[in-house]
Amino acid sequence: MTGKLIDGIAIGKEIREEIKEGVRKLSEKGCQPGLAVILVGDNPASHTYVKNKQKSSVEVGMKSELIQLPTTVSEEELLSHVEQLNEDDSIHGILVQLPLPDHIDENLVIRAIAPEKDVDGFHPENVGKMIIGQQSFLSCTPYGIIKLLERSGVEIRGKHAVIVGRSNIVGKPMGQLLLQRDATVTYCHSKTVNLSNYTKQADILIVAIGRTKFITDEFVKEGAIVIDVGMNRDENGKLCGDVDFESAKEKASAITPVPGGVGPMTITMLLKNTLQSAEQAFADGRCPQ
Ligand code: GUN
Repeated sequence: MTGKLIDGIAIGKEIREEIKEGVRKLSEKGCQPGLAVILVGDNPASHTYVKNKQKSSVEVGMKSELIQLPTTVSEEELLSHVEQLNEDDSIHGILVQLPLPDHIDENLVIRAIAPEKDVDGFHPENVGKMIIGQQSFLSCTPYGIIKLLERSGVEIRGKHAVIVGRSNIVGKPMGQLLLQRDATVTYCHSKTVNLSNYTKQADILIVAIGRTKFITDEFVKEGAIVIDVGMNRDENGKLCGDVDFESAKEKASAITPVPGGVGPMTITMLLKNTLQSAEQAFADGRCPQ
């Protein structure tokens, strides 16, 4: 079998058009959604991610604010920026780009973001609500993967989903979102013994381990759906995932490429969360200002 391509660029574009329409309608009522990004230091990857987030938010008609701080910024000063944004009624989404320098406590900064503006879905209040199935902001990458599956016509209910990777940002919330949609979920990680025993049982295989082309056809069941969250460079400097695409696609019934799979969906869901936050602010009378 040669797997069908799950096209994150096309699906992302479709959703961004819907978001753009939502932003237009809300802006007409005097409430333009606003996203603020705090970027600390000069990590080149973080700069690229932030530039893309800003560009995409402007493209859908949002207000975009960037606060750039030096690596030497104190925790106190960073927290005071977060607090100012919490109070700013023109800002509906606050994102602090990670990682932060070692002298800053990431958890403290995440907890300082007002939960109703935490469009990354990293605040413990949002994580807790997500786990018990209450309305909250969902972590953008797993949320984007759910949308990819849904819009590709993949049935989740009753399927065995195997997740390789247990990060707080991707693996853990991914499992919860699939569980809520009635999948049977298995988590695997770096200490799992005989990984392929598990991955070969997956109807839906989600890989987020940060190891270049690690998952080959030997790890994949015939007909499985394969979702690759990896973002690595191969020996020639070319972007590639955690899945060996050429090999795995021979077994998969559908598979995401890298680039052009999960990546475009992450920013799309950030925009969706920001719109949702602005709509809530409008309903609560906190917008327009
Ligand atoms: N660094 C890498 N991915 C992310 C993300 O999704 N959000 C934030 N804030 N930082 C990141």
